Amino acid sequence: MHLPNLKEARIRTKNEVEYVYLDNKNSQEFSNKKYYLKTYGCQMNVHDSEEIAARLESLGFTKTTKLEDADIVILNTCAIRENAHDKVFGFLGRCKHLKREKPELLIGLCGCMAQEESVIAEIKEHHPYIDIIFGTHNIHELQQLILENKHQQEINVYSYEGKVFENIPYTRESQYKAWVNIQYGCDKFCTYCIVPYTRGKQRSRKSSEIIKEVKELVAKGYQEVTLLGQNVNAYGKELPDELSFAELLEAVSKTGIARVRFVTSHPWDFTDEMIATIAKYENIMPYIHLPLQSGSDRILKLMGRRYTQKEYLELFHKIKEQIPNVAVTTDIIVGFPNETEEDFNETLKVVNKCQFDGAFTFIYSPREGTPAAKMVDTISLAEKEQRLAKLNEIVNKYSRLNNEKYLNKKVPVLIEGINKKDPNKVFGYTDTMKLVNVKGSKDLIGQIVDVTITDAKSFSLDGEI
Ligand code: SAH
Ligand code: SF4
Ligand code: F3S
Repeated sequence: MHLPNLKEARIRTKNEVEYVYLDNKNSQEFSNKKYYLKTYGCQMNVHDSEEIAARLESLGFTKTTKLEDADIVILNTCAIRENAHDKVFGFLGRCKHLKREKPELLIGLCGCMAQEESVIAEIKEHHPYIDIIFGTHNIHELQQLILENKHQQEINVYSYEGKVFENIPYTRESQYKAWVNIQYGCDKFCTYCIVPYTRGKQRSRKSSEIIKEVKELVAKGYQEVTLLGQNVNAYGKELPDELSFAELLEAVSKTGIARVRFVTSHPWDFTDEMIATIAKYENIMPYIHLPLQSGSDRILKLMGRRYTQKEYLELFHKIKEQIPNVAVTTDIIVGFPNETEEDFNETLKVVNKCQFDGAFTFIYSPREGTPAAKMVDTISLAEKEQRLAKLNEIVNKYSRLNNEKYLNKKVPVLIEGINKKDPNKVFGYTDTMKLVNVKGSKDLIGQIVDVTITDAKSFSLDGEI
């Protein structure tokens, strides 16, 4: 197989890389071979896996969901918390076992964990059966890494941040809703968070490229796009003359796509202009994920979050007042180093005031290399677990109360697939991102239908067309 610019591609100085796009759809090299791809972590990784799938398929591999059938296994990993690490190495144990029976099996590991020096050291020392290790900055090299691998460990992980990629091939999981990257990396450096280290500095895509991609998706019949970034509302800040996030939202809305979503927004970059734009355009969904992390000003400061409780609440109420029927969800960390009972109560106070539609709650997990990991922590894990349980109880109460407001109402739902437990039902999401199970057949998949809500639970709704 012809590898264009291979030599140039090997010159890897920071910010000066020759990119190789091996997008050879006709390659027969691995036809009849199967790939098994497992994805951990956030939407960013889910979308990266769509690129990984496309690159594997360009070499002739086809997808399998049975590990035992695989000729190559790729684990796209997450580093956000310690338990993510444990899950990956647990699964690798299964892969190692399989490789004993099937020595030709290729095992690959990529994603945020691969960007951690300590993980690379661990792999080198204890996991020689992993063949291909690549990072978040060189997914585009995957075909080359596979073609050149001689069933021995090759580690190709870089810390360079490089330029922004365009024309990336994707095998999208859905024919109706699509992820669209608008920026890579993050510049916020919240003191607990590993993402700026694993994903690098913020790099925004050009708005013209984003709009081009959305228009192509519209032409293919996509109903929904989700603009993706760690900090979407800081979009374009590092590019001179680029649109603001509100202007980008407006431009995406005007492509005519039925639904526009975006994750994740940082409260610090949330502008009045954004609120006005979301309120103005019907196809921009009234759903905002607005991570709080903590309600205590003291902890927020230690976290480097750049807002106070008062500022968060002001923003929250502005959003609620100005965007009709908006749903707001959040992320909360309990047990940040030396979080006192008083600090925790401040978090509960905000949760009680905001009554979020939903919240992802986490126990703080120290991440090597981050400033918070060096902070002395005197709070026991048992204490943190108690706080988490208490928080979850309150969070779930508000989820249910918010869901109950939907009873007997008619809401638009984009039907996405067949209910896994009941084949006579399909499921989809409301404009406000509520999961709804509906009686109906697979013919509805891909359509936005009006559904009357008949039952409300903490985490989902039931409805009828
Ligand atoms: N960019 C997004 C979130 C990225 S990570 C934002 O800024 O909101 C998703 C969530 O994981 C975070 O919102 C935070 O609540 C949680 N998280 C991040 N680092 C963590 C850590 N070290 N321990 C526990 N939770 C963490
Ligand atoms: Fe992490 Fe903060 Fe960036 Fe979110 S904004 S990815 S929490 S550093
Ligand atoms: Fe995890 Fe990396 Fe996302 S650390 S949360 S997969 S950016």
